Amino acid sequence: MWRTPGRKQAFGNIVLLGILMVLINTNDVASRKVRVLDSFDDSAAGCSRKYSASLADFGGVGDGVTSNTKAFQAAIDNLSLYASYGGSLLFVPPGKWLTGSFNLTSHFTLYLHKDATILASQDESEWAVIDPLPSYGRGRDADGGRYISLIFGTNLTDVVITGDNGTVDGQGVTWWDKFHKGELKYTRPYLIEIRYSQGVQISNLTLMNSPSWNVHPVYSSNVVVQGITILAPVTSPNTDGINPGGKGDDESR
Ligand SMILES: *[C@@H]1O[C@H](CO)[C@@H](O)[C@H](O)[C@H]1NC(C)=O
Ligand SMILES: *[C@@H]1O[C@H](CO)[C@@H](O)[C@H](O)[C@H]1NC(C)=O
Ligand SMILES: *[C@@H]1O[C@H](CO)[C@@H](O)[C@H](O)[C@H]1NC(C)=O
Ligand SMILES: *[C@@H]1O[C@H](CO)[C@@H](O)[C@H](O)[C@H]1NC(C)=O
Ligand SMILES: *[C@@H]1O[C@H](CO)[C@@H](O)[C@H](O)[C@H]1NC(C)=O
Repeated sequence: MWRTPGRKQAFGNIVLLGILMVLINTNDVASRKVRVLDSFDDSAAGCSRKYSASLADFGGVGDGVTSNTKAFQAAIDNLSLYASYGGSLLFVPPGKWLTGSFNLTSHFTLYLHKDATILASQDESEWAVIDPLPSYGRGRDADGGRYISLIFGTNLTDVVITGDNGTVDGQGVTWWDKFHKGELKYTRPYLIEIRYSQGVQISNLTLMNSPSWNVHPVYSSNVVVQGITILAPVTSPNTDGINPGGKGDDESR
């Protein structure tokens, strides 16, 4: 089921281009070249980074069962060292990569192979609880804190989340059930949240079954979202597509 973008339109400097655009991509070169840390030619992905690594280099296991939370964070912590030396790219190979939330870094590209799926953990202990956003004062589902988003970035510059139509699956059904039964202590996580950041591109991915909103750029500028397919059952609660927010914005509206 195709989802329309969120009810809110562009705020501030946020630019949304070609939401739900269908793009044809027959270019598989990028994924084949990722062999050595610094030899990945990602110019085809619209961004050029000097260093690249695969999640598998950091102990990642794409079996759909093993948690990769530590592997993602170890990989990104390592690649963040290259921010001032040409930037970096983390390649997610074919497979099902179960993970809790992880944090992005600056001058960084997260690149999903077309047969890669990032599977969101349904274990609440894999999700840190963070404060509500200052302009909101509370979480959407509950007073007080909220679970951090699956792919989270704050205070960043130059971040790309992309892939050859690889998938991010929020496995939201357990969160939707708890929401309907009033069993949630905190607000449900979003799939992607980027705040206080400049120069963000989110493209060429399929996002599905988010626990709540899919893409939430907030207090950010120069954000481009394009070539994204968003899927969720019509009955799933609050699985809005793209909800940009800004100062004075209030998500409980
Ligand atoms: C990406 O994958 C989704 C889900 O399979 C599909 O609906 C969509 O058409 C694909 N987009 C492109 C550009 O191939
Ligand atoms: C997204 O896909 C389009 C069409 O294949 C391609 O031209 C563009 O470079 C891709 N962007 C990224 C960031 O991979
Ligand atoms: C980061 O990865 C590179 C390549 O594997 C390695 O040489 C380096 O030691 C790692 N750095 C850290 C801090 O783990
Ligand atoms: C990610 O960032 C948030 C907000 O800054 C922080 O609360 C959380 O501890 C960070 N997670 C990790 C694994 O560093
Ligand atoms: C991020 O930026 C905001 C706004 O400038 C600032 O209030 C906050 O302290 C910054 N957080 C971090 C972790 O740097």
